[in-house]
Order: sequence, then structure tokens, then C-alpha cells
Amino acid sequence: MRRVSAVQEDVVTLRVAAKEVASDGVVVLTLRHPDGARLPDWAPGAHVDLILPTGAVRQYSLCGDRFDAFRYRVGVLREPDGRGGSAYVHDVLAVGDTVGVGGPRNHFPLVPSERYLFVAGGIGITPLLPMVRQADALDADWTLVYGGRTRASMAFLDELAAHGDRVHLVPEDECGRIDLPRWLADPQPDVAVYCCGPGPLLDAVERACAHWRPHALRTERFVAKEQGAPVRDEPFEVELARTGRSVTVTPGRTVLEAVRSVGVDVLSSCRQGTCGTCETDVLEGLPDHRDSILDDADRAANDCMFVCVSRSRTDRLVLDL
Ligand code: FES
Repeated sequence: MRRVSAVQEDVVTLRVAAKEVASDGVVVLTLRHPDGARLPDWAPGAHVDLILPTGAVRQYSLCGDRFDAFRYRVGVLREPDGRGGSAYVHDVLAVGDTVGVGGPRNHFPLVPSERYLFVAGGIGITPLLPMVRQADALDADWTLVYGGRTRASMAFLDELAAHGDRVHLVPEDECGRIDLPRWLADPQPDVAVYCCGPGPLLDAVERACAHWRPHALRTERFVAKEQGAPVRDEPFEVELARTGRSVTVTPGRTVLEAVRSVGVDVLSSCRQGTCGTCETDVLEGLPDHRDSILDDADRAANDCMFVCVSRSRTDRLVLDL
């Protein structure tokens, strides 16, 4: 989780209606409009930007009831090594306080499937919780494998208890880590796999699903994936097809910064290639994808890029801006 100075076009001010401890290290906020107004619709996998009174902006998955039009619910893990956003939520933010909320946006949507395997690590349970509810409501055949450091650190166990043996809890101090080969060694042609959690779990699940069909696995990262050096270290040209402008992107400058410097605004939030806000269509040229969102098949299509982090493999890119 991170501090950014976001460009927000869709921010509403909401009031903290409830703040509850969900497990060791996790508090759950319920947010409502101060006037009791309806909130924008969302679907499982969506996140919002929480804009704290300190100015810090953090992204959190919505983990409440998508059919409750008046309340958003987010789970916030205390991050001892973070830059203070989660500590503020845990230690200072109180019921009755207001926060800015941007979004919701969804780059982790639940695709239709008859069977799902959900793999959650720690706070990664938050986007998967509404998916589990939706899969259950649709009578899909689903399984949730949910790992955490200890049982006491794992949020929402009471809500998940209602689902019986569809839910496999894996507290590490009791059972070790999630046995990925057990769940992923044999590719299942009709199973959609969803995973959210810490980077090492996501990396391991990606490796374990490498021999599954394209798009079988969908992941959401809260922290950017480690990227190597950019493909090229020379400047490249970005042409903005709709506005008819061009700009040179030099090493050390992002496409987002370059585009903004010629007066073209692009919505952004995380600026580290995890939230999906700055997604831009590519009309010509080959992007050097450096985000943590697209899978290999999406990257190969080369028809969109996340301009806060991705660059160019070619001398010129034409963007739909
Ligand atoms: S601003 Fe979040 S992916 Fe670019």
C-alpha cells in the first residue's frame, strides 16, 4: 500500500459509520454517505481509493455486500513497515470521521464459470470474499483455500464458517503453507482460478498455473511485481491520436508524466502499475509492459498499457489519447 498524489475525478466524501476489529491486525471500516445517499454500484473484485485526511491515498478492495447500495466495507491490514496510511486508519481514524473515496474501479472482475478455485493469502481475502458470495449465489461449484500466519490473524472466519467444507483454512503455524500442488498440479479446463495475497504467494501460484490454459488464473496484487530493466533506455516518441500531439519520453520520465506535460490528463492513482486506473489503449507500436495487472496473454495482445509504469519497445507509440 502506498502514498500517491492521485488525480481524482470521481471522489465522494463518506463518513466512517463503523470500525471493527476483524482479526489481529485487521480493522474493517463501514462507510456511508453523510446524507444517506446511494453509493455507486460495484461488482466483486472492485476497489476504491481511500483518501485519508492526511492526504495519503490507498487502494482497498470492497469486501461487503454488493447489493447494499448504501454501505461500502473495506478491510485494512496494519502494515508496520508501511508509510503510515494503515497506521492512521488503525490508530486515528474514528467513527464519524470523513474520508474521500474514489472509484469504485474493477480490474479483477469475476468471469462467468461453473467452477472456481479461490486462493487467498492474508488480507488478500478481501476481494475474494464478495466473489465467494457471488459464486455461491449463482450455485457455482467453488472452493476457497485461505492461508494466513495464524488463525487469529485471518479475518472474516465467522462469515466463511457458513460455507462448510467449501472453505479450506490454512493457518501457517498449524498447517504450514498452502499446498499448491494439491490444488493446482492438474489443470482443470473448466475451473477459473482467482488469487490475491502477498507477492510470494502470487508468484508461486503463477508458476503453478503456468501449464493451465491462458486466462485460467486471475490475480490481484497490492504491491507491484518486481520488474527488470526497461527493454530500451533511449527516448521514444508518444503520439496522442485524439489530441494530435506528440511528446518525447526520456529515460527516467514516465509516459504518464510526459503526456501530462503536454496538457493531456490521464486519470491515475497508484502510479505503480497495480490499480489499473491509468489504462490506455495502444493504437500503434509495442509497449514494454511493466505493470502487475496484465497476464501473459493480455500482454501479448499489446492493445493497452498502464502509462504510469509501462514504456515502449519501439521508437514510437500511438495512444488513444
Ligand atoms: S495509476 Fe495505478 S496502474 Fe497506473
